[in-house]
Amino acid sequence: MRVIQLQYEGRHVKTTISVIKCDVGSLVGHHIVPEPLLEIAQNQLAKAKEAKLINSFYVFNAGDDLELLMTHEKGEGNSEIHTLAWNTFQEAAEKAKALKLYGAGQDLLKNAFSGNIRGMGPGVAEMEIDERRSDPIIVFAADKASAGSFNYPLYRIFADPMNSAGLVIDTSMFHGFKFEVLDSKKNERVILKSPEELHELVGLLGSSTRYTVSRIWQAKDHLLCAVTSTTKLSLIAGKYVGKDDPVAIIRAQHGLPAVGEILVPFLHTYFVEGWMRGSHWGPLMPVALKDSKCTVFDGPPRMVALGFQVCDGHIANLKDGKPMVADLFDDPAFELARREATETAAMIRRMGEFQPARLSQEAMEYTTLPQILEKLKDRFKPS
Ligand code: F6R
Ligand code: MG
Ligand code: MG
Repeated sequence: MRVIQLQYEGRHVKTTISVIKCDVGSLVGHHIVPEPLLEIAQNQLAKAKEAKLINSFYVFNAGDDLELLMTHEKGEGNSEIHTLAWNTFQEAAEKAKALKLYGAGQDLLKNAFSGNIRGMGPGVAEMEIDERRSDPIIVFAADKASAGSFNYPLYRIFADPMNSAGLVIDTSMFHGFKFEVLDSKKNERVILKSPEELHELVGLLGSSTRYTVSRIWQAKDHLLCAVTSTTKLSLIAGKYVGKDDPVAIIRAQHGLPAVGEILVPFLHTYFVEGWMRGSHWGPLMPVALKDSKCTVFDGPPRMVALGFQVCDGHIANLKDGKPMVADLFDDPAFELARREATETAAMIRRMGEFQPARLSQEAMEYTTLPQILEKLKDRFKPS
C-alpha cells in the first residue's frame, strides 16, 4: 500500500536501518542496563514514532550497553535521528546518575553535540537500502568486546566457502564480495575483493586489533549487505575509556548468505579482545537476550543476534504495532559454543596476567607498566 502510494507521489524512498548504542550506566558494576533506563529509551522512541520521525524501533541491551534499533527514511548520518539517539542517551544517563548506577554517562565522551553522533562516544551502524521483495536482516550486538570482534565471523560468512555453501553453489554469490577494511590507527580505508584478494584480506583482518571490517557489498551488483560500528573509543577520548562493544547489521538470503550461513560461525566460540578491564582475550559466548549480561571476570564477552524482516520502511510487526523480532541465539544449537566459552574461559584464566591471556601492552585499557618502569628506571643495568 505504502509502495503504491509512494510511487503514485513520484517519490523513490529508501529505508534506513540504524542501530545506535551507548553505555549510559548500569546495574551492579558493568553488568546490565536496568529497566528504568530501557523504559526511557522505549518512551523516547515511541514519541519519535508518533511524530513520524522514525517508522519503527526495538530497544534492547547487550550487557551494559543500551541499544536503539530504528527504521526510518532519513538516510545514514541524519542529524534528526542522531539527535534523537543523543537526547535519549543523555536522559538515560541522567536517570543513571540519579539512581547512582555505575559508570553513568560512561560513553558520552563529548559535551558539544553538533548533529552527528559519530565520534562522540556511542557506536553507530547504519544501512540505507532499497527494500528487496523480502529483506531478512540480522543485528548483532556484543558486550565486553572490541570493534575487531566481527572480523572472524564476517570473513567466514562472506569469504569462506567452507562456511557459506552459497559462495560455491549460488550463482549470485559465486562472484564474491567486496570488503571495506578500516585501519583504525591511520584512520584510512581500503576495499578488497574476495576471492581474488583473499590472502590480502585475511592478512589484514587477522590483525583484528588494528584492522576492522566496516562495510561489505555483493560484488555482482554492489548491493550493500553488511555494516558494522567501527568506532574506537580510545581514539576519540585520546586514552582508553572502555571497549567498543560493537554492533553489526547483516542482510540475508536470495543471493546473499542465508540466515543459517550467517549464524554457523557461532557454532563454536572464538577469541575477542575485551573482557575484564578491556585488557584480555576472552572467548565469545553467543546468548539469548535473557543471558545478555556479563558475570565471570566481567564476561565472558557476550553476543546477541536479533532477526527481523523489513517491511515498507518498518520492522514487520504484529497487529498492535509490536515489532516481530527473533532472538536467534535463543537456541540449544548454540549450547556447544556456550559450553566451549565457559570451558575456555576457565582454562585461560588459569594464566592470570600472563600473555596471551592478557592483551599486548598497546591494546590494554588498564596498565601500570609506565609507573613500574619509571620506578625501576635507575635499577636497570646493561646485561
Ligand atoms: C570492560 C568493563 C569492565 C571494567 C571493570 C573495572 O569493558 O567494562 O570489565 O573495566 O569492571 O571497572 P572500573 O574501573 O570502573 O571499576
Ligand atoms: Mg559499563
Ligand atoms: Mg559494554
